[in-house]
Amino acid sequence: MRPAFVFGTRPEIIKLAPVVRTFLERGVEPLLIHTGQHYDYEMSRIFLEELELPPIDHHLEVGSGTQAEQTGKAMIKIERVLMEEKPDVTLVQGDTNTVLAGALASVKLKIPVAHVEAGLRSFDRTMPEEINRILADHASEVLFAPTEEARRNLEREGITENVYVTGNSVVDAVLQNAEVAEKKSNVLERLNLKPKNYILITAHRAENTDSRENLTRLVEILESLPMHAVYPMHPRTKNRLMEFGLWERVEAIENLTVTKPLGYLDFLRLEKNAFVVMTDSGGVQEEAIILNVPCLTLRYNTERPETVKAGGNVLVGLERERALSYLHRLMEDGDFYRGMALARNPFGDGKAGERMAEILLELHEKGELKVRSSRFI
Ligand code: UD1
Ligand code: UDP
Repeated sequence: MRPAFVFGTRPEIIKLAPVVRTFLERGVEPLLIHTGQHYDYEMSRIFLEELELPPIDHHLEVGSGTQAEQTGKAMIKIERVLMEEKPDVTLVQGDTNTVLAGALASVKLKIPVAHVEAGLRSFDRTMPEEINRILADHASEVLFAPTEEARRNLEREGITENVYVTGNSVVDAVLQNAEVAEKKSNVLERLNLKPKNYILITAHRAENTDSRENLTRLVEILESLPMHAVYPMHPRTKNRLMEFGLWERVEAIENLTVTKPLGYLDFLRLEKNAFVVMTDSGGVQEEAIILNVPCLTLRYNTERPETVKAGGNVLVGLERERALSYLHRLMEDGDFYRGMALARNPFGDGKAGERMAEILLELHEKGELKVRSSRFI
């Protein structure tokens, strides 16, 4: 059995690492294909190093571009590698352009696709990620849904076969790395921060950064924060702030520390010790509830509604008054703070990676790991 992993961005490396590791422990050597969607050291290589992944077999160096340029280039290059290597299954994770390219290239070569984190829906088709995840799910043969809610989303679209509720491998990643992070990372000391005394911010989504109006609203929130804040900034956001002439305003905010994107160990330690997290990231919404840190999400919808239902996450959008009123309440009302912080993690027990690898090995052994002509027989 030879599984191929296609990945290209920071969150894919983080969430696929536990699955790669399980295969290696079972004596199965995976084929690692990196599209190069993310290419800066701190967006890619640092994660390969920290998570101790084996060397990448194929670097495709696709880089940045428009949606179609990036997806198209990745498809062409992935197809070449898959034709040459003929793996038994292609694993993709999440909802990036890399995922869509990997899923389409693979299924058309009749190499079955296993989609890690299948069934998430924001129900907002203006997001590139929503299109990617819907299409990837429909191209996939094996669907690893992190929660029952994700499974139900797939069922509503007629996908009921080979759907496995495994939990989310982000829990595996957090459990495998949080203690290491406490020991190895000196980020709090470096940035002169005290535990539970700062807000951690990340925001990079296209809908928040690509329009001047929305990015200005994000800056206005940053300008009025009532507590020291740290913002490890995605290159997309930095580029847009400069382009829209907003960077000087961010630099002038006294109680805000902006850093480059951080490695996983530094970031996990920052998250675990934050008073509250404000983010538009998918993975950070998940990690906050796993680490018992309240989360205010800078979006109007989420494909992780489980976090909101559990009480650990509130959607504040880019509404400054709403964001501030939650921040003040968290600072002033201990019971409210504890209620959010102690919300139950809905993403499983940290064994998702093991489950996924075992399911694929079993399907392969039974000769059932193949692209069927119909899902419905
Ligand atoms: C992508 C995903 C998004 C995911 C995010 C993870 C899509 C459509 N979006 O968004 O779902 O949340 O990755 O972080 O796939 N850039 C650099 N250096 C890099 C990478 C990017 O400078 O290493 C800059 C470039 O200017 C690039 C921009 O960031 O144009 C956006 O990168 P891109 O890969 O298109 O999308 P992300 O915003 O990273
Ligand atoms: N992350 C990191 N360093 C950072 C910001 C985020 O290691 O500076 C990690 C974070 O812990 C999470 C993942 O990157 O596991 C989330 O990635 P991102 O927000 O880029 O993408 P999304 O999850 O929104 O697709």
